[in-house]
Amino acid sequence: MSTYLDFLSVANMLTIGLCMGGLLAAVVARWLRRWQNPKCNGVLPPGSMGLPFVGETLGLIIPSASLDLPPFIKTRIKKYGPIFRTNLAGRPMIVTADREFNHFLLRQDGKLVDTWSLDTFAEVFDQTTQSSRKYTRNLTLNHFGIEALRGNLLPKMENAINDTLRAWSSQESTEVKSAAITLTIDFASKQLFSGDLDDAPLKLSDMFNHLVDGLMSFPLNIPGTAHHKCLKVHKQVREMMSDVLRKRRSSSEKREDLLHHLINDMDTGDFLSEGFIIQLMFGLLFVSSDSISTTCALAFKFLFEHPTVLDELIAEHVHILEKKENTDSPLTWNDYKSMTFTLQVINEVLRLGNISPGLLRRALQDIPINGYTIPEGWVILLASAALHLNPDEFEDPLTFNPRRWKTWQFETRIHEIVRDTTRHEYTTRIHLKNGDKAYFYSCIRFVSISSLTRDLNSSVVAKSFMPFGSGMKQCAGSEYSRVFLATFLHVLVTKYRWELVKGGKIVRAPIIRFPHGFHYKITAKT
Ligand code: HEM
Repeated sequence: MSTYLDFLSVANMLTIGLCMGGLLAAVVARWLRRWQNPKCNGVLPPGSMGLPFVGETLGLIIPSASLDLPPFIKTRIKKYGPIFRTNLAGRPMIVTADREFNHFLLRQDGKLVDTWSLDTFAEVFDQTTQSSRKYTRNLTLNHFGIEALRGNLLPKMENAINDTLRAWSSQESTEVKSAAITLTIDFASKQLFSGDLDDAPLKLSDMFNHLVDGLMSFPLNIPGTAHHKCLKVHKQVREMMSDVLRKRRSSSEKREDLLHHLINDMDTGDFLSEGFIIQLMFGLLFVSSDSISTTCALAFKFLFEHPTVLDELIAEHVHILEKKENTDSPLTWNDYKSMTFTLQVINEVLRLGNISPGLLRRALQDIPINGYTIPEGWVILLASAALHLNPDEFEDPLTFNPRRWKTWQFETRIHEIVRDTTRHEYTTRIHLKNGDKAYFYSCIRFVSISSLTRDLNSSVVAKSFMPFGSGMKQCAGSEYSRVFLATFLHVLVTKYRWELVKGGKIVRAPIIRFPHGFHYKITAKT
């Protein structure tokens, strides 16, 4: 009897266990179905939401040893088309490589979309309010914009770059990416707070060198992770900045720097707290160092590997020096403006480097696109890198070819094209933007210009080339970056030559990194 009862209770337990298991399986299956098919007032773009919690993040951060688009994005565009859904870092996300849609979205800031950052970026840079964003933009343009560049920044830059390259050339080998971080941090911190941290025990540039790796990492804040380390360094840098701010506020000394401007404005804006000032200085140091130093390092590599491009660049800069009465006199704004080929080289490095692989936005409402719906609250990654490497717009997109920009630059300088039938039946008068006029006396010549410019015309460029973003939130430091890079190239190619010692490997994960560094021997020309 007792055996029978035992059997019954075991059977009951088994049945209960099976029921519970079945229930659990049903709940998990329902939850997985919901994970895979999130709520949407319409049809979601095609794609997959990946695994619960992590989504498809691992696929995105797997390193690829190439300048090409990360395989994660490339394979999905092939499979689903230019707009697809995914889940990254636990967030439902739409990735778009649709030129027209991206162009449209970037003109909808504050209406259909808003700026958004990945969690690590958000924690490090803080989400700002609309008024503080405008303030930051104006302040940046004030201290790093064209007027400041033309006024005093350009000669200061040239001096700093001259000193730096002289120091590099005295070394057996220089790892140019981290050395350029030091150059850009030292230069920017002079403009921000007159180098008040020069004597600090921890070097700012060393700390920024550590920071970068953690920024695009999975936001897992436990000891040992890149995210954890990044937050720790961020805290240390903030403490150093806070020290600078405290000392400056208690001093009566006046300085002509950005910090002085911020302290003066502290009574005018609610958001201008100590925390905001520290955050802003940190953010400006970061953007001005990582992106410019990466571009410098890539320029070293591409120019070393393309001697004919280097020769053309040297010729342009030697010509600038030859035009001067005294070759030692500093670069002028007009010299910078005449660096046509240099700016093409910079465009090409930025196009291939894709330092910012995409721009992040958040949908403020449901957004319809091509029969699909992007639900309100979803994050949108506008994959600018996919446009920069699109073979339909940039022929042979992985080739470093600065000359592809020639026709575009020519076209953007054209202000007005007038068919002048009074002078000659086939005369075409072209007013260039600098006020000059050019005449083309044959219709055939005119046709050849228009067919050339079709290759890389300004509408392609406006919608497909956006290393500095586009629209209302376009980078406020774009001119500063171009002037810095052009000045750097001027000093480099006129005074030095360089040879690869070791390293040179490029990895995207998805941000571009140089795992073994770019070590060059830099030698002064005799
Ligand atoms: C090669 C160098 C640089 C690159 C590739 C770059 C790229 C970008 C991009 C793509 C954006 C737009 C982000 C978006 O639309 O969501 C941006 C915004 C911004 N950048 Fe840069 N940047 C560079 C250098 C700099 C420098 C040197 C500064 C400061 C001196 C700077 C200051 C800013 C600011 C303040 C914004 C925000 C603009 C706004 O929201 O109105 N950037 N940058």
